Amino acid sequence: MDAARPARDSQPDHEDELMVAASALRVNADRLWERLMTLAQIGATPAGGVNRQALSAEEVDAWRQVIAWAEASGLVASTDDAGNLFITLRGSDPGALPLLSGSHLDSQPTGGKFDGVYGVVAALEVLTVLAEKGARPHCDLVAVAWMNEEGSRFAPGMMGSELFAGVRELAALREVQDAGGVAVGTALDALHAAFPNLPRRRSGFAFEAYVEAHIEQGPVLEAAGATVGVVTGIQGKKTFEVELRGDKGHAGTLAMADRRDALAAFARIASALYAQVGAHDALVKFTIGQLRVEPNAPSVVPERALLRIDLRHPDAATLDLLGARVPALCEAHAAPCEVRVQSLVDAPGNGFDAALQDSIEAAARQLDLPSLRLLSAAGHDARHMVPLAPSAMVFIPCRGGVSHAEHEWAEPAHVAAGADVLLQVLARRAGLD
Ligand code: GLV
Ligand code: MN
Ligand code: MN
Repeated sequence: MDAARPARDSQPDHEDELMVAASALRVNADRLWERLMTLAQIGATPAGGVNRQALSAEEVDAWRQVIAWAEASGLVASTDDAGNLFITLRGSDPGALPLLSGSHLDSQPTGGKFDGVYGVVAALEVLTVLAEKGARPHCDLVAVAWMNEEGSRFAPGMMGSELFAGVRELAALREVQDAGGVAVGTALDALHAAFPNLPRRRSGFAFEAYVEAHIEQGPVLEAAGATVGVVTGIQGKKTFEVELRGDKGHAGTLAMADRRDALAAFARIASALYAQVGAHDALVKFTIGQLRVEPNAPSVVPERALLRIDLRHPDAATLDLLGARVPALCEAHAAPCEVRVQSLVDAPGNGFDAALQDSIEAAARQLDLPSLRLLSAAGHDARHMVPLAPSAMVFIPCRGGVSHAEHEWAEPAHVAAGADVLLQVLARRAGLD
């Protein structure tokens, strides 16, 4: 047993038998929706979205709110060195491996009300309903909020799940800085200091299975009229940081032929990349989402350009082929500037557990919800759980497929439906049916 597993006497005993069959249990749809809307106020933006960066004061506030809800239901909160948040409903067999479900509370700067937070609140809702009904699963059920899924403040993203999975080193990630020079380590220590009484679990504890609920972030479910997405896997993704270095100079006096203009090099590289990577086929997704120019002054020749490239493709061989073109094209078009290309993420596509996919599909059928199998075009922490234990994802539709934008929207009925599916899948897996 994990030494830091929440103590058995820290949670009220539920001696009552579960009065309702697990298959008849439903989430509290109103509470789930209200919680999503409450969390959407933390980091709310004027455009109606959410800006809740990883390890920010807003994320600390979101943790405080989630922990308060959990503790009010007799659930137990804990954390680990990686800054992941765990909420536990205790099972009857302390030797049984826990079931894990969750997502993330951080957002993109132009985030919406659902990306990430839905999976955390849905998992919390499942635990809350089971606790209310006095259910005693045989194993612990753990809701998790992974640290820094988005990677917009600190790159790369998915730090918490990668640290949990042991694919990156905490010491190295603690050195990563945001645009203002604040290090992950400093922000992580501040997060932990805000919750001095939270027990610290060993990161990377063994678990039996992982199921993550999320909005689709694409148009497939809505177009098909499906309420539930049975996610078959996640397409592969590569990200790169490219730094171009030239010389600054006077915009009025320096001859064009004598310039080493970092933004001009960027323009050449970008147009080659859009043509030879971004236009390769209909399935490629190629984005230059971030560009920093220095000194960023109207009459100064740019000395430095720093850009981030996001490249995805469902076919592994094509992704590798296109990924190899990125450094090659950067080097071919950088002169007379210098270029440095760094691979930040190289995540191959993955497939989810077949039995869990069947279980999600069966739960949707039982609940009379139309479902569809689909590949996730977006990345998720579930990717990093796949090598550790059977893992899967439940999707719900989002309006127009819009995400990473303030007008991201999911219908309340779909929000409840996805959480009901999660409840059935987890309850069955925990021996409650
Ligand atoms: C996750 O947020 C992604 O960018 O796919
Ligand atoms: Mn997400
Ligand atoms: Mn996201």
